[in-house]
Parts: sequence; structure tokens; C-alpha cells
Amino acid sequence: LLSLPKESGWGSRHLYLHQHFWCPSTHFQGVINFQNHFLAKDSDVIVASFPKSGTTWLKALTFSILNRQRFSSSHNHPLLTSNPHELVPFLDFIFHGDNIHDKLSHLSNMTEPRVFGTHLPFPSLPKSIKESSCKIVYICRNPFDTFVSLWIFANKINPHSMHELTIEEALEKSCKGIVGFGPTWEHMLGYWRESIANPNKVLFLKYEELKEDANFHVKRVAEFLDCPFTKEEESNGVIENIIKLCSFQKMKNLDVNKSGTVGRNLEKKYLFRKGEIGDWVNYFSPAMIEKLSKTMEEKLSGSGLSFKTCS
Ligand code: A3P
Repeated sequence: LLSLPKESGWGSRHLYLHQHFWCPSTHFQGVINFQNHFLAKDSDVIVASFPKSGTTWLKALTFSILNRQRFSSSHNHPLLTSNPHELVPFLDFIFHGDNIHDKLSHLSNMTEPRVFGTHLPFPSLPKSIKESSCKIVYICRNPFDTFVSLWIFANKINPHSMHELTIEEALEKSCKGIVGFGPTWEHMLGYWRESIANPNKVLFLKYEELKEDANFHVKRVAEFLDCPFTKEEESNGVIENIIKLCSFQKMKNLDVNKSGTVGRNLEKKYLFRKGEIGDWVNYFSPAMIEKLSKTMEEKLSGSGLSFKTCS
């Protein structure tokens, strides 16, 4: 660890440049253990994302789509009593700490299909994920909203960070790629390119498109995961029920998500803020708009990846 390039992140945590991405010091051990020890099963589903892109939402949707027959009555659905991050844990959290063998045996006994989350960039995923037939659903969000969501989140989980870095300085750092699991562009492009080269392996979703037409994209996810909705399910409102259960308002107002913590002491209420498209306009100055627009143009040009809601 000592030999790796180091930068201060937002707030008090440090970032280490590991395999071309900035790994938060708090995640380092878990990431290494995950990379070295995780054994994917062909039936696994991985929900991958850059932080603050809609991970919680996609975890809830993916879990509900895959388990719709087990929990067909809406009264006993696990999402009513558990946070999505408890039902779909992050693999780098799971592997944090010691007792790797206990963790591996717990993982191998989990009910299939197992669903996990990760913020690792595609090239850094363990070999077994890339080489098995397990599937990856990736969610990406326009970088303006993602940045604002992360800025506010970082300041909530560490109120002192507001005094360490202004929003302009945080954007400067982000545009240089220095942000947890960044550079953001590399993260998106890694999964974007893989989704084009290997469409049966990676499904690439956009937060904005999911918001605009959830029905269409929930069907896409189910088809991709080889569990398409039947005509009967469609006419019985199964898709609508899943969308309602996972909606921002529903999740935010559940008692289970209003208090308490998840993962490593993360306040669950911080996971649900506004859930809107375009809130960035309330935070960006003209100079910040220019900075991020230019950076995106430079980094994404020629890739085919674009965001219609920006500037
Ligand atoms: P905002 O801060 O813009 O409100 P992640 O889950 O990757 O941490 O992303 C967090 C962002 O997704 C936050 O955005 C949060 O409010 C939003 N979000 C959380 N649950 C959601 C849901 N069920 N539907 C839509 N957006 C959701």
C-alpha cells in the first residue's frame, strides 16, 4: 500500500491508485480480498456502478425481478423490511476484514441466484466474474447529477469535508479523475465497451432512461437475466408492482430506510435524497458547467456514449 500513489479524497479518506483507478483507503483490503478470493457461479448476477449513479435503485429492482416468484405477495416482500444493500451486498464490503474462509463458505451456501453489488471498474473485476457465465447489470448516470449527489453525500457522511474542499475544488479533482473508483469516464467506458463487445454479459442502463420508461427497462433487465415476464405476469401487473415497490418515494418512506445503518456504519437515510434528474442546475456555476462539459467532450468523444440531460 505504501508504494502506491496516494491522494486525499473528499473528506478525510485517502485514495490509492490501484490498477488505474482511485481506490478509497477504507475499501482497499476488501477490494484486494474480493479480487483474489471471490468465486463466481454461472447463476450469479452482479449489479455494477460508479457511486451515486442509482445503485440502490438497481439493486432493489434486480432483486425483485429475480425473486418475484418467491415473494409474490407484496405483504411479505423482503424490501419492506430490509434495505437493498442488505439484500444485495457489496462484494468489497463482504470481503473486508479477516476470516476469508468463513466468508467464502457463507457465500457458497447462499440461495441462488446470488445477487451482489460492486463499484469496481470492469478491468479490475475478478477473473471468475469475467470468465464464468454470470451476468452484469451496470447503471450509469449523467456526470452532472452524479457529481452533485456524491458531493452532498460526502458532506453528509463527513460534515468536516465541507471545510476542506469547495465544490469547485471537488469538481476540479473529479475532472482530473481523482475521486473514489474514478476516473468516472474510465469506469463508464469500461462497462460501455464491454456491453457492446459482449451484450450477453453486460447490460448497460442509464438512470435517466430508467426514470423515463421504467416498464421498458425492467422488461429488458428480466430478458437479459433469462427470466422474461410472461404474458400472464404482464397482465397481472407484476411489472408495475415491482416498479412501485422500488420507487424512490416508496423506498424513502419505509421505516426500514429511515433510520439505522447499513454496511460500515452508513446512515440508511442518506441513500435517499431527491432521486431527480437535473438537480445539478442548483449547484453548478457557469464556470463549473464549462469545466465538466469540456472534460466530458474530451473523454467521451468517439465512444458513442452520451447524456442528453447535460447542459
Ligand atoms: P440524489 O442524490 O440525486 O437524490 P446510489 O444508490 O448509487 O448511491 O445513488 C444515489 C442516488 O440515487 C441518490 O440521488 C438517491 O436519491 C437516488 N435514489 C435512491 N433510491 C432511488 C430510487 N428508488 N429511485 C430513484 N432514485 C433513487
